[in-house]
Amino acid sequence: MTKSREETSHDPGRRKFLKGVGIVGAGAAIADHLWVEAEAAEATPESLSGTVKVVLDVNGQKREAQVEPRTTLLNAMRNHLEPAVTGPKLVCDVGTCGACTVLLDDKPVYSCLVLAVDATNKKITTVEGLGTPENPNAVQAAFVENDALMCGFCTPGFVTTISAYLKKNPNPSMAEVREACKGNFCRCGTYPRVFEAALAAAKGTQA
Ligand code: FES
Ligand code: FES
Repeated sequence: MTKSREETSHDPGRRKFLKGVGIVGAGAAIADHLWVEAEAAEATPESLSGTVKVVLDVNGQKREAQVEPRTTLLNAMRNHLEPAVTGPKLVCDVGTCGACTVLLDDKPVYSCLVLAVDATNKKITTVEGLGTPENPNAVQAAFVENDALMCGFCTPGFVTTISAYLKKNPNPSMAEVREACKGNFCRCGTYPRVFEAALAAAKGTQA
């Protein structure tokens, strides 16, 4: 039997589910391995007007930005910081591709599905914060050595996801790497080399 809108809107189970999903949306359901903890605060009408100052802790630096409450973390980093943080890429903007992946308190999230105001007081790590061209982390180095990119738009997301995953599981199988990367899409089809790079990075971290 189909429930009416009134019935469903008062269904505590459904309300709880929707609140739990919050700003994460359907995309995170697809990428259910990502540990996204978004808190959808009950906003008052006052809080939804104008802009607010946020202080974002990006790669160990406190960065101030003036944003609308609806501004995503991805948008804030790319368009409201000076200098901008452009490692996380804007591709789908709806939580389906993983190109915008960052670590929020060390957990991978789609930054296009996190509000900047919800990212304050949390540690934000982008691909820039994982290493530098002179001193790359093991995953960044393995991507270069294994030629694991073509256009490179997906690369920051893969590198971030894999870097976090190898901390949880430093000795993964190919199947586990593939599973860990299922929330990141590569339109160029570079998957085999991405997975090889992940395994090579895992071996490198154990050496
Ligand atoms: S840009 Fe965020 S998931 Fe695609
Ligand atoms: S290398 Fe082009 S989308 Fe992955």
